[in-house]
Amino acid sequence: MAEALFRAEHIKKAFSGVYALQDVQFELRTGEVHALLGENGAGKSTLMKIISGVYTRDSGDVYLNGQKLTHDLTPQTAQTRGIGIIHQELNLCPHLTVAENIFLNREFTTTGVLNQKKQNEEAKKYLLQLNLDIDPDTQVSKLPVSKQQMVEICKTLSMNASIIIMDEPTSALTEKEIEDLFKVIAMLKEAGKGIVYISHRLEELSRIVDRVTILRDGRHVTTMNFADTSLPEIISYMVGRTLDEKFPRIEVPRGEKVLEVKGLSSSCGVGVKDVSFDLYKGEILAFAGLMGAGRTETVRAISGADKMSGGEVILNGKPAKIKSPADAISKGLFCAPEDRKRDGLCVRMTLAENITLPNLDFVSKFGVIMSKVEGEKSREMVKSLRIKTPSVFQYVRNLSGGNQQKVVVGKWLMRNAQVVIFDEPTRGIDVASKIEIYNIINDLKKNGIGVMFVSSELPEVLGMSDRVIVMCNGKITKELVTKNTNQEEILHYATQY
Ligand SMILES: Nc1ncnc2c1ncn2[C@@H]1O[C@H](COP(=O)(O)OP(=O)(O)OP(=O)(O)O)[C@@H](O)[C@H]1O
Ligand SMILES: [Mg+2]
Repeated sequence: MAEALFRAEHIKKAFSGVYALQDVQFELRTGEVHALLGENGAGKSTLMKIISGVYTRDSGDVYLNGQKLTHDLTPQTAQTRGIGIIHQELNLCPHLTVAENIFLNREFTTTGVLNQKKQNEEAKKYLLQLNLDIDPDTQVSKLPVSKQQMVEICKTLSMNASIIIMDEPTSALTEKEIEDLFKVIAMLKEAGKGIVYISHRLEELSRIVDRVTILRDGRHVTTMNFADTSLPEIISYMVGRTLDEKFPRIEVPRGEKVLEVKGLSSSCGVGVKDVSFDLYKGEILAFAGLMGAGRTETVRAISGADKMSGGEVILNGKPAKIKSPADAISKGLFCAPEDRKRDGLCVRMTLAENITLPNLDFVSKFGVIMSKVEGEKSREMVKSLRIKTPSVFQYVRNLSGGNQQKVVVGKWLMRNAQVVIFDEPTRGIDVASKIEIYNIINDLKKNGIGVMFVSSELPEVLGMSDRVIVMCNGKITKELVTKNTNQEEILHYATQY
């Protein structure tokens, strides 16, 4: 058998005395796609950050092409040794162009002067490989999250690495982009590269994966050939138990109308036109559609994050005239946004501060925060959502990606809400924790709250909602009753241009 591209043995890593990895092993062979799986906080990103020189290990050995490393890698040396990583959290410079981001620190120069034309041409080559029709001169901040993710992938491809680590590459991609990415992965594999593939979208694994390694609580559980295992087995290794029900649906009698949206238009983002629908108390309304269909724009306009250019939002029978997210909150309408880093979290603050920020009235008296109450409330939240953290006073930026997402969802749950809107609530969340989030959504439903959620995962839409609004190109193309519909019908209306 060929020598492994890399092998890590007995890797240990602790953060402030808490182990993120304990005695972990991992091996990547040439021409294989190796899935690295585990619950949120299991240590996947940490292990890959060690391999790519972002973190240094406390102990353990790393072999590259059979040679033991005597020095720790840095991000630069890892890059020159052929290790490329696509990080879970996007790492692009928003104010630079696509080409500038792809070739950051590796700019194309002619006699010392930046050759922008050549750089844009080169960038275009990699963009085309991923079937992306983007002008390399576009500023990255103008692109939707899914395209930014694709640019990040291009950047790593352009480094011509022999080891490519993809940490949750598809969590923000559209179906078509996923297809294009899978084609590229097949090509890379053919060329003898090794790919580490981290994902919580377990259904997609069968399309590309050769082997799987599963981590649990920072320990290596098992490594198997994908062909010799099954998803239920993988899940049971990940969570340490079997899960009986993926979608814990509950039936609650539908109450009165709580929200009415009439003829809503907005010109922000992809824009939306003439969106009208009703939401009832105790109802879960899903918004399905392809990326760019206008679902996020709809919820942003309703919740005051974007300005409406037309239409009306009626809350409990009265025109709501929501001016800002703060105004929405004061009227009992909450929105957990899609882009957690930009809109949903203050990553430089602690978990407790993030959870209590929209709930200051609950935890303060005469304008002073009562830290004891803050701590207690946050601990309750951490427990009910199974947020993995050494303490509630941990900085949010140090939490694993999925645990950050739980904070975004969790911070609204203390409120007295009328309407709660979730935009992709389970993105990047592991199978077991998804169920926790569904249970929270069910709790809201039981309490007569109207819940809306935007989701790109059709099984989740079908598994959890009562009705589905399907959108395409900024318009509603169909409203469906969940129990009378299926995946094909939703997709049909989602692609009705
Ligand atoms: N820089 C850091 N400082 C402190 N703790 C950290 C840091 N980075 C990671 N951790 C902790 O290490 C543990 C493992 O995190 P890691 O990001 O590797 O998880 P993961 O398996 O990638 O999870 P996810 O699926 O949610 O992305 C977590 O408990 C996390 O809070
Ligand atoms: Mg991670």
